[in-house]
Amino acid sequence: MGTPVDPVDPAIMAALSAAADAPGYPLTMGSVALRGAMRAYLTRTSAAVGDFGVIPTVGSKELVAWLPTFLGLGAGDTVVIPEVCYPTYEVGAMLAGADVLRADSPPGVPAALVWINSPGNPHGRVTDLDEMRAWVAWARGCGAVLASDECYLSLPWEQTPISVLDPAVNDGDLTGLLAVQSLSKRSNLAGYRAGLIAGDPAIVRELLTIRKHAGLIVPDPVQAAMVAALGDEAHVEVQRERYRARRVIMRDGLEKAGFRIEHSTAGLYLWATRDEPGWDTTAWLADLGILVVPGAFYGPAGESFVRIALTASDERIAAAAERLG
Ligand SMILES: Cc1ncc(COP(=O)(O)O)c(C=O)c1O
Repeated sequence: MGTPVDPVDPAIMAALSAAADAPGYPLTMGSVALRGAMRAYLTRTSAAVGDFGVIPTVGSKELVAWLPTFLGLGAGDTVVIPEVCYPTYEVGAMLAGADVLRADSPPGVPAALVWINSPGNPHGRVTDLDEMRAWVAWARGCGAVLASDECYLSLPWEQTPISVLDPAVNDGDLTGLLAVQSLSKRSNLAGYRAGLIAGDPAIVRELLTIRKHAGLIVPDPVQAAMVAALGDEAHVEVQRERYRARRVIMRDGLEKAGFRIEHSTAGLYLWATRDEPGWDTTAWLADLGILVVPGAFYGPAGESFVRIALTASDERIAAAAERLG
C-alpha cells in the first residue's frame, strides 16, 4: 500500500550499528559528517549551489505536518496544496489553524505557504520547469513560502523531476524556497525515519531553533546511516531498477484489464481509472486480492481514480498482474 518492502543496503545497516554506542544527545543540525553529506548530496542530485541551509528531519512527515505551525501561520493565513495530494499537507494547515486552498496552478489570491509535490503522490505527475518557475514567481509576488516536497525525486521514468534548489528554477535566489526530501523511498529507510529540509538559509535557521526546543532531533545512529545512504548512488540505482520492472508489469496488466493510466510519468505510483467511483474499483481489485487506495482519499478531484503502489515484492506484483489478466 506504499510502504517499502525491499531490504536496506548492508552498508547502511553497518553504519547504523557501528554508531549504536550513542550515550550523548545528538545535534539537531546534524553531525559535521551528516552536514557535509547532505550538502554534497544536494549539490550532486538536486543541482543546489551557493549558500543553502540544510537540516535533517525525523522522516519528512513530521516536517510536513508542523511546517505551517513553525512558520507561525494561523487563523486568516492560507496554505495552498495540490488538488489531489498527500493528506498531511491539509493536516499541517489544520494543526496551525490556517485555511486550505487546493490549486494545481498559481491561484489569483495570495497565500502564506504553498506546497508543491513533484513527482506527485498519488498520481506521479511531474511539475515541469515552466510550472516550477511560475510557482516561484507567484510565491515571490505574494511573499509566500514555497515548500517543494521532493520525496520521490529519485524515481524518474518518462519525465525527470527537477528540484526547487536548481538555479534553473530559482535563478540562484533561494529566498522563500524550501525543498523537503526523504530517504524513505530513495534508500528504503522508512523505518529509520530520515529526511531533510534545505533551502532559504534564514528560514532553515529559524526552523533549526524551533526544532531544538521541540526535540525534533534525528538519533545519532540514524544520522550515521544517513551519511552512508546519502553518499552512495549504487543502492539507489538497484532500487530504481526494481521499481522500473514492477511498473512495466503492473502498467501492462492494468491496461490489459481496461484501466486508463494518467500522469504516473515518475515516482512510486500508478494513477488508474475505469471511469467509475474509485471505491468501486478498490472493491473490485480487493476481490482479486489486490490492495489499492481510492483516489478520493487524496482530494475530491481524485474520486474516480485509484492509487497503485509499486511497493510490493516482485512475486506479488507478478501475481497481481496475472490476476488482472
Ligand atoms: C508526498 C509525500 N511526502 C512526504 C511523505 C512522508 O514520508 P517520510 O515521512 O517517510 O519521509 C510521504 C510518504 O508517503 C509522501 O508520499
